[in-house]
Amino acid sequence: MLAQLTACLLAPHLPISEKELASAIEIPPRPELGDAAFPCFTLAKTMRQSPQSIAERTADAVNGTDEGVRAETAGGYLNLFFDPAVWGNRILTRVMAGDYGRLQDGQGRRVVIDMSSPNIAKPFGIGHLRSTMIGNALANVYQAAGYRVTRVNHLGDWGTQFGKLIAAYRRWGDRALLEAEPIRESLRLYVKFHEEAESNPELEDEAREWFRKLETGDGETRGLWRFFVDESLKEFDRVYARLGVRFDLVLGESFYNDKMEAVVDRLTELSLLEESDGAQVVRLEELGMPPCLILKSDGTTIYPIRDLATAVYRKKQLGADLLLYVVGAEQTLHFQQVFAVLGKMGEAWHADCRHVPFGLMKFEGKKMSTRRGKVVFLDEVLDEAAAKALQVIEAKNPELENKRETAEAIGVGAIVFADLRNRRQLSVDFQLEEAIGFEGETGPYLQYTYARILSLLRKGKYEEFAARGKAAEGRHMSSPAAWACLKTASRFEESILQAVRENEPSVIGRYLLELAKDFNRYYNEGKMLTEDGEETFGKLSVAAACAKVLKQGLQLLGIRTPERI
Ligand code: ARG
Repeated sequence: MLAQLTACLLAPHLPISEKELASAIEIPPRPELGDAAFPCFTLAKTMRQSPQSIAERTADAVNGTDEGVRAETAGGYLNLFFDPAVWGNRILTRVMAGDYGRLQDGQGRRVVIDMSSPNIAKPFGIGHLRSTMIGNALANVYQAAGYRVTRVNHLGDWGTQFGKLIAAYRRWGDRALLEAEPIRESLRLYVKFHEEAESNPELEDEAREWFRKLETGDGETRGLWRFFVDESLKEFDRVYARLGVRFDLVLGESFYNDKMEAVVDRLTELSLLEESDGAQVVRLEELGMPPCLILKSDGTTIYPIRDLATAVYRKKQLGADLLLYVVGAEQTLHFQQVFAVLGKMGEAWHADCRHVPFGLMKFEGKKMSTRRGKVVFLDEVLDEAAAKALQVIEAKNPELENKRETAEAIGVGAIVFADLRNRRQLSVDFQLEEAIGFEGETGPYLQYTYARILSLLRKGKYEEFAARGKAAEGRHMSSPAAWACLKTASRFEESILQAVRENEPSVIGRYLLELAKDFNRYYNEGKMLTEDGEETFGKLSVAAACAKVLKQGLQLLGIRTPERI
């Protein structure tokens, strides 16, 4: 926002458009260098003057106005210092406006986000958890930037594992158990299958036969398959609800069963398929990649072709302008190959497909998937976090109403933020004790800062003052710490756009940490609730702006903001 305001201010004095100005303006990292700076170098040629003299002349012009801005020069740089007493209120008005943080940049563009996408009958791995949270945050951020967003759960609901599962269920299954605990029971069957298959190889044949039946549409087998899928989904849905994640579409891999043939036909028509060891592949040497396997030697389809059909569907039926795949880094080559094959198929939009990879997540130093015998039950991790949060609340504020609900919000928030605070490609070593703390770079720290501001606003009767419809006096929000808060609050929209450009939710996470730190510095600076009503109102207005942005930002990350903690 500051860049925008500065551009508006400078435009009358320089021969370039406001828009160009806005993109050239820099926000110096240290306040001593100004609140905003404009490098005059690129204008030297058109204006036939040295950058210094452009900077100096413009500084004089700005200093001659009474806009509440002081201009200085440093070489070819024009450095601007805003008078907080004048500009504080302008920023505040914008931040408090209903449409702040709701941009139009993506207008008319649809982004389809592939997220979560766990495999039925296999454990919901931690990779799927990261995909769920990163995908959800990205979906929110894109929405805030004005895009239309379709969140798709590309459920792994097809494949040979179903043959194994059905075979195992037929031998050792128990319907009641499966209904009660579908994931655990599926897993038990799956594990038992593999154990037994070691001494009894016939089982593999049995499984193949079941999968064949499934593929040919045998009624009873299909019924069993549906049952497995539906029961697992119910359990996933419980976790999704706790995480506050929803999908626009749940289209599993099976949805594409009848859509792959068209892709094979197209590849054939374009003579792109080549035989290799009995299998059909698309060669990608010229792109420096190994061949993409399309059909196995027995003619069965595999993962890549499903993704080709999926991408085509998303483009053509869902109207995607941008296709994001939030999937672990270990699938990088797979997506490079799929996108490359799309390119070879003449689908120019393959350039709008992006794999959004992320690193591994460990739980207290251990790979999450190895805990408790190969699996982490997400529910349990969330329960553990919520229980810890409840302990903290019991110690800090035993009188609190809705303790359980608040603890749930904090526990889940802690996990989500631990995932989103660092750049997604880095691996995460999740430490519950640390993540749940109210200090440090944690979700609860942000949630607590928010709740603390709300309590302050209640005590200071901020709403009553605000209801008068009169702006706070600038002089009461002009301390350096207050100004730092307002300046940071003014960068929210830029952060949203940066998060979109980089497909990086951590941009919002880091930004919110900065804002919370600014606020806490401001809070510790001195008494906010004073005898003087106008002074209190001025000071609280700055706090209210921080609260508003904190709340909106946390919502973008998918983290709830309890009003009292
Ligand atoms: N189910 C897959 C897995 O767990 C992830 C699917 C990702 N999405 C996709 N379109 N391939 O590995």
